[in-house]
Amino acid sequence: MQRTLLIIISICLLVAPCQAGLKVIGKGDKTSLDPTGFPPAMQTNFAIMRVKCIKCHSLERTVVAIQTGIAPISSQPFDRNAARAYGVKMMRKPDSNMSKPEVKAVVELMNYLIDEAAQ
Ligand code: HEC
Repeated sequence: MQRTLLIIISICLLVAPCQAGLKVIGKGDKTSLDPTGFPPAMQTNFAIMRVKCIKCHSLERTVVAIQTGIAPISSQPFDRNAARAYGVKMMRKPDSNMSKPEVKAVVELMNYLIDEAAQ
């Protein structure tokens, strides 16, 4: 029994990061996420988000929306559907300087983060 438990714990430590929530770093306009625990694909997506999604406002809006499940300005629910809709809305803003594949990558990342934040 103890051995089984030990094996389970070891697997958990090796395979899954086993950490709940998001690793938020900085505050206010300097708010960001620590991507070191992200899977490689999400690290790539984060590299896009950290450049493309801070053109008009800081990452604070995005991080708060993901953490609280509520979009901070409109107070609308921020779930997977909303993440997609906001991604498209941001891309369509004048001078957003974002391509469809970039928005897709950021939406994928937001979905991943929404799941992580819920843990
Ligand atoms: C071209 C400028 C621009 C870019 C680039 C941009 N945003 Fe925004 N964002 C805005 C403006 C303006 C608002 C104010 C509210 C609105 O229009 O929805 C906003 C609001 C938001 C909100 C809060 C929405 C609410 O209703 O509370 C979130 C979340 C957000 N942006 C995320 C992102 C993400 C993620 C990206 C990158 C994919 C991004 N933004 C890129 C301009 C931009």
